[in-house]
Amino acid sequence: MKAIIWTKYGLPNVLLLKEVEKPTPKNNEVLIKIYATAVTSGDCRLRGFKVPVGFWLPTRLIFGFIKPRKTIPGMDISGEIEAVGKDVKLFKKGDKIYGTTGIGLGANAQYVSLCEKKAIVTKPINISYEEAASIPFGGLAAIYFLRDKANIQSNQKILINGASGAVGTASIQLAKYYKAAVTGVCSTINIELIKSFGADKVIDYTKENFTNNGETYDVIFDTVGNLSLSFCKDSLKKQGKLILINAGLFENLMSIGNDKIICGVASEKKDDLIFLKELVEAGYIKPVIDRVYPLDKLVDAHKYVDKGHKKGNVAISVEHCLSSKST
Ligand SMILES: NC(=O)c1ccc[n+]([C@@H]2O[C@H](COP(=O)([O-])OP(=O)(O)OC[C@H]3O[C@@H](n4cnc5c(N)ncnc54)[C@H](OP(=O)(O)O)[C@@H]3O)[C@@H](O)[C@H]2O)c1
Repeated sequence: MKAIIWTKYGLPNVLLLKEVEKPTPKNNEVLIKIYATAVTSGDCRLRGFKVPVGFWLPTRLIFGFIKPRKTIPGMDISGEIEAVGKDVKLFKKGDKIYGTTGIGLGANAQYVSLCEKKAIVTKPINISYEEAASIPFGGLAAIYFLRDKANIQSNQKILINGASGAVGTASIQLAKYYKAAVTGVCSTINIELIKSFGADKVIDYTKENFTNNGETYDVIFDTVGNLSLSFCKDSLKKQGKLILINAGLFENLMSIGNDKIICGVASEKKDDLIFLKELVEAGYIKPVIDRVYPLDKLVDAHKYVDKGHKKGNVAISVEHCLSSKST
């Protein structure tokens, strides 16, 4: 099969398209024929090893100290079950799925073999494979931080800094599903996009600094990494919470026992993917795709995402000779 291989951390050109052996599923695994994958900001951070301050060592221990332990990068996938191991009960050949391989990586390829218990579920029926592969990264982060950690409620005032990225676009839509009053912070070019997701207010960060406009919020969700508690203190209500998803070790330690700051790493659960699928099928969440690249242009996709200005997501289309690909 064709797959992207990386043998070192570094610039996008460490990613090479190669012919490698197609995986064989173990008894508890499903073999997935991948139709689409994604290049997320997380994939680019890992490739270039730009991790939050204090996380260099733990991240190297997980992903490989000298070089990447897993030779095929990428996390998010959509595709079709091509074969199942003899103990598999949750899937059958032909099921259309989407999800994430998580820290096991291996998504930037034509096939991947995964334990059936991993974060893969039936794909939403009303969207393409490219759209499905673009949902998990931002969607799972939005659910974990806004619903599970900040416990957002209807009529709360939520501000999303970095509203036009993968996490931002998913978060606006999730917060609107929970009937919160949402303010999105983005640049001039993205104002109409943010409004189209139902944001009640949009602040153009090139013209206005939200921290000194007198408004206060129940939740401030920073997806950019340029906020801190001291910076936002006048913009948070008394019981308000600041979510920092790019926090370094210091802020993560500070957040322990401090109910004003939320940090951490989003989890990957089947139940949350099922919830996202239901929201997509009911029209509450629309996938946002900026660009689609073929697998053999993955380096270009990484270069684009590295710039830090994508709108929503970048999907990767994976071709198969003689495939009967359908949505
Ligand atoms: N902790 C976790 O579990 C977790 C989970 C998911 C993601 N993350 C992290 O969250 C971050 C965001 O991820 P993402 O995929 O959403 O990023 P992304 O899609 O690359 O976000 C890019 C967006 O950020 C906007 N932006 C840049 N500078 C800005 C500023 N000063 N103010 C407001 N918006 C600004 C850009 O808009 P303009 O073009 O208008 O500037 C662009 O649309 C990444 O660092 C990722 O690693 C953490």
